[in-house]
Amino acid sequence: MAQNEAPVELTAEEDHRRMLDLLGLEALRPGRNGMDPEAENYANYDEATSNPYPDLPPLMITENGEPVTGPQMWEETRRPELVGIFSEEIYGHAPAVTPSVTWEVVAEREETVAGVPAIVRDYVGRVDNSAYPAIEVNIDMTLTLPAEAEGPVPAIVSFIFRFPANWEAPAGWEPPSPSATERILSRGWAHAELVPTTVQADNGAGLTKGIIGLVNKGQPRDADDWGALRAWAWGASRVLDEFEGMKEIDETRVAIEGLSRYGKAALVTMAYDERFAAGFSGSSGEAGASLYRRDNGEVLENVASSGEYHWMGGNFLKYAADPLGWDDLPIDAHSLIALSAPRPLFVGTGKSEEGDAWVDPVGIFMATKAASPAWELYGAGSIHDVDFPGEKVEVGEGAIVFRQQEGGHSNHLNWESFLDFAKREWADE
Ligand code: GCU
Repeated sequence: MAQNEAPVELTAEEDHRRMLDLLGLEALRPGRNGMDPEAENYANYDEATSNPYPDLPPLMITENGEPVTGPQMWEETRRPELVGIFSEEIYGHAPAVTPSVTWEVVAEREETVAGVPAIVRDYVGRVDNSAYPAIEVNIDMTLTLPAEAEGPVPAIVSFIFRFPANWEAPAGWEPPSPSATERILSRGWAHAELVPTTVQADNGAGLTKGIIGLVNKGQPRDADDWGALRAWAWGASRVLDEFEGMKEIDETRVAIEGLSRYGKAALVTMAYDERFAAGFSGSSGEAGASLYRRDNGEVLENVASSGEYHWMGGNFLKYAADPLGWDDLPIDAHSLIALSAPRPLFVGTGKSEEGDAWVDPVGIFMATKAASPAWELYGAGSIHDVDFPGEKVEVGEGAIVFRQQEGGHSNHLNWESFLDFAKREWADE
C-alpha cells in the first residue's frame, strides 16, 4: 500500500454491502423497530415469548467436552477458547502489533470538585502514524486527580459520550448531579474520561480511518478484523499503560466504566485486558451483557445492520443471514461476562418502564447469573437461587453483582452502588 495514498472513502452502507459480499451473503434479516409500536417488526416485550432458545452454550465445558473443574483449567483452556471465539466470530481480532501512543498533557488546571481540591489534566494520546501518515489518531482523555492524596489512588476510566460543539441540550435536560467525577473524587479516587470516538469513529464510514484504518493503511476491513468495540477497548488499555508509569495512580486498582454501547466496550475491555481490576457496565444490551438468544428489545439483526455493524467484526454478520441464526452462536452474553472473572464486575441496567426496555434488563440479569460459575470457581462470588430482583436490589455475593436502578438509560443512579462495591472488593479503607 502506498504510504501517501489517501484512505478509501465508503459510506457505511457501501462498506456494509462490501462486507456482505466478502462473506458471500446476499442479504441480512432485518432488525426490530424499537420506536413504533404499530410497526410490524416492533420489538417484543412479552416475557412469555422472550425465550425461544432457553439453552445457552455451556460455559464450563471445554471444546473437548471436559468439565472445567478449577481456576487453572479455566485460565489455561476454557478462557482462551472463549476469547478465541469472541475474536474470530464476534468482535474481531486486534492486530498483534499496534502503533505506540505518546501521551501529552495539553492543559492543566486546579479546580475544586465536590469540595475536594483537584488537578484536572487534559491529555492527548498521539498514535504513531509513521507507517501511514495519511491518518492521524489523537486520543482525548481528561484526568481529574485529588490534589492532596497521600499516595497512589485507585482510578476509574470512563468511556464518555462527547456532545458535538454545536449541541444544544433539549429543553428541561440537566446534566446528572452529582457527576461521576464528583462522586469519584469524593471517595478520594481519580477519574479519567476517555473519548472513544477519538480512537475510532462510531460509524461504518470511519472504519478506514481511526486506529482501525491506520493499522490497515486506509483500506477497508477483512472479515476477521476488529470493530469499534475492540478499538475503544484498545484505547482504554493505552490509558492504563500511561497510569502504570504515574506515581499518583495505583495501577493495580483501575476500573473501566461505560453505558450502553460503551457498556459493551467496558465488558470487552475487561475481557481482553486482565490488568483492569474492576468493571462497571451499564445498560449494555445486545452485543453486551444481554442474551442474543432472547427475543426481547434489541436483537442480533439490529447490531448487524449498517448502523451498528461497525462495533463488531465482520464475521458476526453471518449470524444475521440464513441459514444461521441466534442459536448457532457458539457463545452467548454469559460467556463474555465470565471473561471478567474473578475480578469485581458490576452489571447494571435501568428500568424498562423508564425507557430502558430496549436493552432487555431481564436478559442482562439472566446472562449475569449464568456467568457467575466463573466467579464460583475461585470462591470469589456468586448469583444463585434468585430470580430477577426488580429495581434497587443489588444481587450477588462477592465480586459479581447485578443491579437495576430505578431510572432509565443511564448509569447515574447506579454510581454510588458501584463505588461502594469497588471499595468493598478492593478493600480500600
Ligand atoms: C442504540 C443501540 C444500542 C446501544 C444504544 C446506545 O439504542 O441499538 O445497542 O447500546 O444505542 O449506545 O445508546
